Amino acid sequence: MEPSFPLPELRVAPSILSADFGSLSDAVAGIAPGADWLHVDVMDGHFVPNLTIGPPVVASLREHSDLFFDTHLMITDPARYLESFRDAGSDGCTVHVEVGRTAELIAQMRDLGLRVGLAANPDTPFEAIEPFLALVDLVLCMTVFPGFGGQTFIAEVMPKVRQVRAAAAAAGLSLDVEVDGGVDEHTVVEAARSGANVYVSGSAVFGRPHPLDAVRDILRAAVGAVAGDPP
Ligand code: DX5
Ligand code: ZN
Repeated sequence: MEPSFPLPELRVAPSILSADFGSLSDAVAGIAPGADWLHVDVMDGHFVPNLTIGPPVVASLREHSDLFFDTHLMITDPARYLESFRDAGSDGCTVHVEVGRTAELIAQMRDLGLRVGLAANPDTPFEAIEPFLALVDLVLCMTVFPGFGGQTFIAEVMPKVRQVRAAAAAAGLSLDVEVDGGVDEHTVVEAARSGANVYVSGSAVFGRPHPLDAVRDILRAAVGAVAGDPP
């Protein structure tokens, strides 16, 4: 069944977490013709048990790419780093609702001119993000517990995706609803039917021999799902 509400533009946002960090700019250039967003996973070893990259890598990539940098901050203290990410070239930042001080973080991102995202872990309920829906541009529903690429898509998150999309539609908000974790050309179908329109994909893109084809396959599957094509 196709969604009964109009979705904003459907986008695939490849996650560099699964790319070859030794040749990131080549990896990004490879997917650019099929994607207009790039998902940048930032981990601090505290909010999640893994470490990745910070503003210097974003600044280096900025020299090589015009893509929208969708920066996912899996960090305990985003307030301390938002300005550095903006200065490095992030277009949007997404903070986790679990770290708290959400209203302050949203205001800070607005002041910095960033596109504003709010993320929720798989076991964080809709009610935790509901008060902020009218204040953000994007809600990220994690479909794995954050920290690592290559995990299995948690389909039990789909009712929350439906709740977010339905609440946004009821309020007349054109909200980006993003899913992240275990998204490939198969799992994207259920995500798109549930109302997600931005699909983060790491291993199903950069883990494939032809990442650009993988991006296009995911987008095609999502477009078909929203149009009501049979699986
Ligand atoms: C997980 C990250 C994801 C991850 C997705 O903590 O937020 O963006 O890179 O990777 P895959 O698509 O491999 O699940
Ligand atoms: Zn992510």
